Amino acid sequence: MKIAILGGTGDLGTGLAIRWARKHEVIIGSRDEQKAVNEAKDYASKAILAYQTELKGTIKGMKNEDAAKEADVVVIAIPAQYLIDFLKNIGDYINKEALIISPIVPINKKDGKFIYDPTIIAPNARSAGEVIARTLKNRVVSSFHTLPAKKLADPYSMLNYDLLYCSSDKSATDIFTNLATDLDERLNPLYVGDIELSYLLESITVTILNISLNTKRWNLSIKFI
Ligand SMILES: NC(=O)c1ccc[n+]([C@@H]2O[C@H](COP(=O)([O-])OP(=O)(O)OC[C@H]3O[C@@H](n4cnc5c(N)ncnc54)[C@H](OP(=O)(O)O)[C@@H]3O)[C@@H](O)[C@H]2O)c1
Repeated sequence: MKIAILGGTGDLGTGLAIRWARKHEVIIGSRDEQKAVNEAKDYASKAILAYQTELKGTIKGMKNEDAAKEADVVVIAIPAQYLIDFLKNIGDYINKEALIISPIVPINKKDGKFIYDPTIIAPNARSAGEVIARTLKNRVVSSFHTLPAKKLADPYSMLNYDLLYCSSDKSATDIFTNLATDLDERLNPLYVGDIELSYLLESITVTILNISLNTKRWNLSIKFI
């Protein structure tokens, strides 16, 4: 599949690109084309080193708009506070059939604690996933919020986690779950419900970050037993 990771030059995009390159055509999107090209080269050399003859895909870099135009799947991997302006511009470039994945966590800090704060997106926003679904009218899956970027970016690290996801479109399920297990076959996708429940998933990451602050254990994820 052709997968565009918009804002793919950041922490989360790094691991998604390296791991998906084993099977897919990955396009790193950025506001700055040269930055995208440079990061794509760096990720590609890491993927070659890790997967060697198993590597069947590619990684290239482009401006966000060009990346979006080409893709079957679009991951929006930018900080929540820029989402509204970003969507205003990118909407015209995304193929209407493309599946959108939102890993976005609207997070704020208050009195030394992390809080879930979708109002950093817009005053009446309830979650990033819902804002994207309402604005773009594409099929949207909200997920990946609990994947620690550092573990994801290390292709030798085992992602033995449960992976919650929300979507109002059943036809997105197979594509999404296959893409998730292409990151690591140990990832266990669990369906939570329609996109209206996205706030539940997004806020779990905030809980995890507060646990990390209190226990000094970093890069945590989740598993239900
Ligand atoms: N880091 C994690 O462990 C993690 C885990 C799960 C989910 N998430 C979520 O995934 C998203 C990406 O996380 P991240 O850690 O990769 O973020 P990040 O490194 O802070 O930023 C990602 C990219 O966003 C782009 N960006 C920054 N400001 C922008 C703006 N005003 N308009 C458009 N693009 C802008 C930048 O790309 P260019 O400068 O190249 O355009 C940047 O490289 C966030 O919403 C985060 O909540 C993160």
